[in-house]
Amino acid sequence: MSKMLKLALALSSIFFLADTAYTCPDGEHGHSHAHTGTRTKRAFPQVPLQTPTRPLVWQDFNVIHTTDTHGWLLGHQHLSEPEPNYSGDFGDFASFVSHMKNIAEEKGVDLLLVDSGDVHDGTGLSDGFPPGQLDAHASNQFIKLLPYDLLTIGNHELSDGFPVAQDMLNDFAPFWNGRYLTSNVNITIFNQTLGKNVSKPIGNRFVKFLSPIKKRRITSLGVLFDFTGNAAGTTVQTVEDMVQEQWFAEAIAEEPDLFLLVGHMPVSRDKWPVVFDAIRAVHKTTPILIFGGHSHIRDCLQMDGRSMSLESGRYMETIGWMSVNLDEGLNIFDPFARTRNLTFSRRYLDQNRVTYQFHTQTNNFSFDTRDGENITKGLNKLAASFDLSEFFGTAPQDFFLSRAPFPSNQSILSLFVDEAAPVALAINNTRANFSKVIFTNSGEMRYDILAGAFTKNDQFVALPFADAFLVFPNVSFGIAKGVLDGLNGQSEDVKRALFEDRESKLYAKGSVDHIYNAWLREMSMQYNAALKRRALFGPPFGPPFGPPPVAKSLGYVTNDSCIASAGVGDDIPHVAIPFFDTPDFVGTTVPNITDESAPIDVVFINFIEDSIIKVMNQLANGTESFTANDSLPYTSLLANQIFGIFAQVAWNS
Ligand SMILES: *[C@@H]1O[C@H](CO)[C@@H](O)[C@H](O)[C@H]1NC(C)=O
Ligand SMILES: *[C@@H]1O[C@H](CO)[C@@H](O)[C@H](O)[C@H]1NC(C)=O
Ligand SMILES: *[C@@H]1O[C@H](CO)[C@@H](O)[C@H](O)[C@H]1NC(C)=O
Ligand SMILES: *[C@@H]1O[C@H](CO)[C@@H](O)[C@H](O)[C@H]1NC(C)=O
Ligand SMILES: *[C@@H]1O[C@H](CO)[C@@H](O)[C@H](O)[C@H]1NC(C)=O
Ligand SMILES: *[C@@H]1O[C@H](CO)[C@@H](O)[C@H](O)[C@H]1NC(C)=O
Ligand SMILES: *[C@@H]1O[C@H](CO)[C@@H](O)[C@H](O)[C@H]1NC(C)=O
Ligand SMILES: *[C@@H]1O[C@H](CO)[C@@H](O)[C@H](O)[C@H]1NC(C)=O
Ligand SMILES: *[C@@H]1O[C@H](CO)[C@@H](O)[C@H](O)[C@H]1NC(C)=O
Ligand SMILES: *[C@@H]1O[C@H](CO)[C@@H](O)[C@H](O)[C@H]1NC(C)=O
Ligand SMILES: *[C@@H]1O[C@H](CO)[C@@H](O)[C@H](O)[C@H]1NC(C)=O
Ligand SMILES: *[C@@H]1O[C@H](CO)[C@@H](O)[C@H](O)[C@H]1NC(C)=O
Ligand SMILES: [Zn+2]
Ligand SMILES: [Zn+2]
Repeated sequence: MSKMLKLALALSSIFFLADTAYTCPDGEHGHSHAHTGTRTKRAFPQVPLQTPTRPLVWQDFNVIHTTDTHGWLLGHQHLSEPEPNYSGDFGDFASFVSHMKNIAEEKGVDLLLVDSGDVHDGTGLSDGFPPGQLDAHASNQFIKLLPYDLLTIGNHELSDGFPVAQDMLNDFAPFWNGRYLTSNVNITIFNQTLGKNVSKPIGNRFVKFLSPIKKRRITSLGVLFDFTGNAAGTTVQTVEDMVQEQWFAEAIAEEPDLFLLVGHMPVSRDKWPVVFDAIRAVHKTTPILIFGGHSHIRDCLQMDGRSMSLESGRYMETIGWMSVNLDEGLNIFDPFARTRNLTFSRRYLDQNRVTYQFHTQTNNFSFDTRDGENITKGLNKLAASFDLSEFFGTAPQDFFLSRAPFPSNQSILSLFVDEAAPVALAINNTRANFSKVIFTNSGEMRYDILAGAFTKNDQFVALPFADAFLVFPNVSFGIAKGVLDGLNGQSEDVKRALFEDRESKLYAKGSVDHIYNAWLREMSMQYNAALKRRALFGPPFGPPFGPPPVAKSLGYVTNDSCIASAGVGDDIPHVAIPFFDTPDFVGTTVPNITDESAPIDVVFINFIEDSIIKVMNQLANGTESFTANDSLPYTSLLANQIFGIFAQVAWNS
């Protein structure tokens, strides 16, 4: 456990007792569902989980939101904190939705289910398919078993090659009868009848429909951010151009009861205002509900008092909830009813069965629906057919991307460069006995490796990229020893220029880690500052600055801008996860060699070859020169095999 975490926990147990618990709108305390004992079903929480304490705020229009599920349909199955908090699976989610729909019907209110895209690239369930199949084709069949009212396309559906996008066109989109929206995303396919290539939207550009219970007239769009990393044969129109289209003007011309917009676009610092303003130019006061995604954070903001925008995290960690009282606007005796701020509510639910049961007032025995159980069964069968439980070894502890500093013995980056890569790369390698340094970009790793069984699925999760290793053989030690600092350490000005340029380019190509990390960093900083203030000045104090009063377990501590109008968003108060910045590039410890001219192998992931060459040529001052022609393949192993091979060697004693 890190020092910071220890401090946080120690302080929390001292100071949190003095605080009052969250206010509970209708006094429904005390639902406690004990969850202990042995279970066979993988998705049941294996540790007791804390229950939420506040019921959801139901109003006459309610929405459940998923986004960026990235193949995590079996949820998070490791026991390290906070994974059990996200241990529900898509079958559990289906049961939840089904109970919630029943509750909505009993209350006579609307409940819609929407998704904001990115359905694969995250786990073996979507990406571990055998040759001949397509990414997410199999896992998408389970998404079809949920009663989604609206869905939209994510950038990942467009970046894994044309056939995957075509599968969305031919298999996924048609299933939803016009409710799979791709307002600014086209695909070009050959039309036999016309004898030529034709560009057309993958799904529908917009849809108008009536809500199930109260028959509200809804107009919906599905917008993707300005993505440029899309496969050849697909087209992403910029958001600015989209709102200039004739079809757009026609789609929004008639005033509905509300606009319900889904999009794979972050609700902050992206182009939702462009869409919002285009609608507001025509309809000054019509309610607008926006469900965004892509940056993997929990976020909420209001562009005016009659709209709300929600983003619901990632990886089946978070289920989003938004509700609004639309009847307020219908009071014909109130002249201001159509202009006054609407009453919105939003919540970020931790994705597990305890959460689900609390909010549906079911218990472990009444919760599962037959469809839900069927989905869980089907997902487990799919996992088995992809052999995702293939066992490589037992990880002795957790290894973190950003919860531990680099270098450290809890850092997955340290594990990779100091242990896993040297061990795996030495196998069957004729150059194994030569001195070497190994470099990778930190972004090569995607997720923590957690204590316990390390399986084929965990390998997909932690490091999915099929990158090769290259070597510049026999480089002078004097050059090799400076490479890592060279990679990470341009002068601040150069770095900033490079970085800003690179970041905006990377963003257009779909990279969001820097946003997610900035969110974690801010969360951790605010939390620690709050602990200090509390230690100095004592209570009272709470959100948005303070740790929530009854926080017990690690998780997200969301400080979004809807707190002022709608209160705290997290369904359960958490202790913020510690965050440590990591360098962009990491490398093995430089061997202790005194002879500057001694030959040494410079080994690296092919993805960073350009940077390596640039830095080595700088360091060489013209005494040597390096080009892509001089590098050689180092091994037949690919990056995404390294941890598995290492685990077989080192984690099987
Ligand atoms: C989250 O999981 C931890 C165990 O890892 C548990 O102690 C805690 O109660 C859980 N918290 C919630 C909010 O479910
Ligand atoms: C080909 O184009 C014709 C005429 O526009 C259209 O009716 C038909 O649906 C198209 N076929 C496909 C497969 O898109
Ligand atoms: C249609 O597009 C495909 C893929 O871009 C291309 O290979 C083919 O030549 C095009 N066919 C025609 C008739 O333009
Ligand atoms: C998308 O397809 C529609 C329908 O074929 C076409 O009118 C439009 O020009 C296309 N948009 C783009 C940006 O390619
Ligand atoms: C209405 O909502 C807006 C945006 O959230 C806020 O700035 C404004 O203060 C609110 N007005 C009232 C009267 O509450
Ligand atoms: C929860 O329910 C499932 C089946 O519905 C059962 O297998 C499991 O043992 C139950 N667990 C507890 C703690 O009751
Ligand atoms: C059960 O799940 C399978 C997929 O695993 C699906 O094909 C089938 O339709 C489901 N059956 C029911 C009754 O929902
Ligand atoms: C990890 O490092 C910490 C601090 O450097 C040390 O106290 C601890 O013993 C180390 N653990 C292992 C397993 O090496
Ligand atoms: C190393 O070579 C042996 C013999 O050719 C082979 O059985 C083994 O799978 C190889 N190991 C790796 C990691 O490639
Ligand atoms: C590396 O050196 C060790 C000990 O000197 C030797 O046993 C081994 O065969 C060498 N391996 C290779 C690949 O040269
Ligand atoms: C490096 O090697 C030199 C000479 O072999 C030795 O004196 C020195 O202690 C070594 N330094 C480290 C940090 O191991
Ligand atoms: C390159 O120049 C720097 C600064 O003048 C010097 O410290 C370094 O040793 C030189 N490197 C080589 C390989 O000549
Ligand atoms: Zn995503
Ligand atoms: Zn995305």
